[in-house]
Amino acid sequence: MSTNKLWGGRFEASGSQAIDQFGASISFDQLMAQEDLEGSLAHVQMLKDTEIIPTDDADQIIAGLHRLQKQLAAGKLHFTSTNEDIHMNLEAILTEEIGPVAGKLHTARSRNDQVATDFHLYLKKRLPLIIQTLKDFQTVLVQKAEQNVETIMPGYTHLQHAQPISYGHYLMAYFYMLQRDVERFEFNQQHTNLSPLGAAALAGTTFPIDRQQTAVTLGFAQPYPNSLDAVSDRDFALEFLSNAAILMVHLSRMCEEVILWSTYEFNYLELSDQYSTGSSIMPQKKNPDMAELIRGKSGRVFGNLMGLLTVMKSLPLAYNKDMQEDKEGTFDTVKTIIPCLKIMTGMIKTATVKTANMEKATTKDLSNATELADYLAVKGLPFRQAHAIVGQLVLEGIKTGVTLQQIPLTKYQEIMPEIGADVYQDLQAKTAVERRQSLGGTSFEQVRQQIQNAKTILQKD
Ligand code: ARG
Repeated sequence: MSTNKLWGGRFEASGSQAIDQFGASISFDQLMAQEDLEGSLAHVQMLKDTEIIPTDDADQIIAGLHRLQKQLAAGKLHFTSTNEDIHMNLEAILTEEIGPVAGKLHTARSRNDQVATDFHLYLKKRLPLIIQTLKDFQTVLVQKAEQNVETIMPGYTHLQHAQPISYGHYLMAYFYMLQRDVERFEFNQQHTNLSPLGAAALAGTTFPIDRQQTAVTLGFAQPYPNSLDAVSDRDFALEFLSNAAILMVHLSRMCEEVILWSTYEFNYLELSDQYSTGSSIMPQKKNPDMAELIRGKSGRVFGNLMGLLTVMKSLPLAYNKDMQEDKEGTFDTVKTIIPCLKIMTGMIKTATVKTANMEKATTKDLSNATELADYLAVKGLPFRQAHAIVGQLVLEGIKTGVTLQQIPLTKYQEIMPEIGADVYQDLQAKTAVERRQSLGGTSFEQVRQQIQNAKTILQKD
């Protein structure tokens, strides 16, 4: 006696509905239905070409799978948790469609290589979209940077005024950060580009299959060289989740600045109405909800990485049912990062840069203290000594409300007779920015070069 499961031969009793439900993955892995059909088509074509199954049978299966593809596209396929997962659901539907010959499809294949293949295909299809979305954001950053090369603002360390910088320079910092994200996702493609199909359960198969053929048909660069590794590997998903987590770190940092800079106190940026929300009680409110939500969504993306790392930790080779837990977090991450990037792009693109406020914030502050120390050092004072002298002037200035520009030349010359009137020029924020001409520095010229270089990077593909 056997149960009515596809694998029911050696069973005498069925599990309860609750057990079926608990073990089922169909509620989420139906997202890979298209990939599963593609994998099956490549497999059956190979079974036909290698004459592992008769041509007539293979043709019936191929025709059946094509019909399933159409029904799927039309939203006409219905899945059940009794059939556990997408693989067995589709096989059951195919059997209804073409009869018992459908059973030949699973020759020389296991669900273990099947699910791994589907999951690779799923991610392989989505990575280019993610990379493109990242590049769209980079393009906007470059455009905004180009408009703001000469916009001066305070640069911060410890969130304290440090040295003045160009706002374009700030934007380009994110461009290059995101470029590393692009490169990480591109590298991720390499490890996603291997075909597990034909690894079968874990050890390969006795049938004379052609793994090269199925790999090529599915657009993979090559088959996994080791069948055990092929069915056990989820590194490509871990890499993806890790890359996504780093990307969200980046977005959350920028969001934090957007939120801060949109406050009454800073007032450096004003988000467009489309990317802001109001309050149901306070009529004056314009809240940066989108930036907060992106910052908040970093939590689930980090969580999905931690989740899969924990699932995979200590798992013995090869397939274990634990691995069914690999999908939801990965799907969720894809579903999260794409809109985060798109919203971020629009938000930055449409935000008004309050250049005058940014600039004003650098005129009465002490972020030109390094300029004065550098000036003294150029006149021959050891930098440490210069630093100490300027430190004292800053302290005095804070107590008396005097900025470094307001100190009279006579006083400067008491400190060091070589100081000339040109010191006031050096103390201006714009001069401080302009003079930072070291490679990658914030001078207008250097920022323009960064923009030029960024354009070359963006044009590469
Ligand atoms: N639904 C399963 C998963 O997502 C498919 C693989 C099942 N293989 C097995 N030997 N039980 O992991």
